Amino acid sequence: MGERIVQINLNGRSVRLKAAPNETLLNVLRQKASATEVKSGCERGDCGACAVIVDGRAVNSCLTLAVQTDGATVTTVRGLGTPEHPHPLQEAFIRLGAAQCGICIPGVLVSLSAFLAERPDASRSEIREAVAGNLCRCTGYQKFVDAAEESRIMEGLE
Ligand code: FES
Ligand code: FES
Repeated sequence: MGERIVQINLNGRSVRLKAAPNETLLNVLRQKASATEVKSGCERGDCGACAVIVDGRAVNSCLTLAVQTDGATVTTVRGLGTPEHPHPLQEAFIRLGAAQCGICIPGVLVSLSAFLAERPDASRSEIREAVAGNLCRCTGYQKFVDAAEESRIMEGLE
């Protein structure tokens, strides 16, 4: 079957991309929109490295067909903040040294930011649960939760 045009708002910019009917959002973002900040891991929904926010909800882009996102707003880790104005979560991750090898971090930040936007008062265990689908082989998750809590304090101060 032929390719279709998919129009999305990607990190605040309207983009039109060609996608085959069975092509994943992960592939289209990385290969056709230069969004290589979206990481490719297992490509079967197990690791969360490919997570992006689609219309406010964190999804695994390897399990999402690009054509399903036509008209959607898609946010990657690059769209959470800017170098001048990082997202409070990004600032907290840097301050606490929450990243080690970094491969999981784009997905972790995306998942946490979508979760905290919906549940700003979540408990530590709920925050921990919110990143359970993001596999990290380095950190033990403690600093992710610490950073998420610190980011809420920072947000409150803004
Ligand atoms: Fe999508 Fe692993 S690459 S969940
Ligand atoms: Fe290395 Fe998470 S920081 S996998």
